[in-house]
Amino acid sequence: MHSLPSSTETLTLHLAILICEVLPPPVSCLRGPFDQIFQDFFDRGAKRLSENNHNEQCPGGVKKQIQVRTTPYNATAGQLPDAVALEGLDALVVTGSSAGAYEDIEWVKKLGGFLQDIYHQHPEVKIFGTCFGHQIINQSLFAHTGGLYVTKNPRGWELGVHEIAINPKFASCFPRQLKSSAAAVARASSSPRIQLQLSHQDTVIVTQSAQLPSECVEVGSSALCGMQGMYVPNRVLTLQAHPEFDRAVNGACISEIVGTSWPAEETREYLRMADKDDDAALMEEVVMEFLLQGPTP
Ligand SMILES: *[C@@H]1O[C@H](CO)[C@@H](O)[C@H](O)[C@H]1NC(C)=O
Ligand SMILES: *[C@@H]1O[C@H](CO)[C@@H](O)[C@H](O)[C@H]1NC(C)=O
Repeated sequence: MHSLPSSTETLTLHLAILICEVLPPPVSCLRGPFDQIFQDFFDRGAKRLSENNHNEQCPGGVKKQIQVRTTPYNATAGQLPDAVALEGLDALVVTGSSAGAYEDIEWVKKLGGFLQDIYHQHPEVKIFGTCFGHQIINQSLFAHTGGLYVTKNPRGWELGVHEIAINPKFASCFPRQLKSSAAAVARASSSPRIQLQLSHQDTVIVTQSAQLPSECVEVGSSALCGMQGMYVPNRVLTLQAHPEFDRAVNGACISEIVGTSWPAEETREYLRMADKDDDAALMEEVVMEFLLQGPTP
């Protein structure tokens, strides 16, 4: 017996990072600006998936090496990919922001219109967003269906590491990460539960009358936020959480949010919540699998 000759195939994903917040220096001095934080996040996901591919029997012995190239756009300054740039893009990435998706701010409205246009006119360009990104994508793409809106969460801020009950239907779309991983299984009762960093006050509210496209799959929910993300296979993935943040970055973000005006006891508790282990590594892989779905880029 002899093994098949093996070769390595490199697959390059090209992503546009739409930067929706200039991170304050105490945050950016830790891991760089938002585009760097996301480049690192995608690199980790690509590395994990490449390693897993190497462990699997690939047809013809071809090993897939995934590479991620990102281009930053200053969305807060109204900068967005033009028609030429779109040609070579696999996905748009919408970052977090201190702005509200519902606010009457010029760049926010421009971004919302752009996302609508891409979703309807460029089905080959995927859309991924976290936190504010999740909220504005949701609002831009689905608010017109009625009964869905973004607002301040009546249950208040959700800061630090929280448990998210994953919707079983979403878990079955990414079974290797969400159904058979040790982290998910250890806590699985009825639905897998994973821990992620969060830092938000706004939330997506869906009322009974919402008419969401039938292909929409909700990601899951936490005690403080019923809408933790949305998934349309091959098109859109949004997460209320910040899987791209580690404990240091989210701790620094929380310090910026609370400033000096919140009670010291409360602040300490939120910082303690951020300084916990999480399952972001699972999400790195889920996001990378999503970005690789469909026609080979
Ligand atoms: C992006 O735009 C904002 C708002 O105009 C500006 O404050 C910021 O410095 C810009 N960032 C970069 C990296 O150019
Ligand atoms: C928005 O929220 C609804 C409600 O849970 C969800 O089902 C929908 O898919 C979300 N859309 C986006 C783009 O997040």
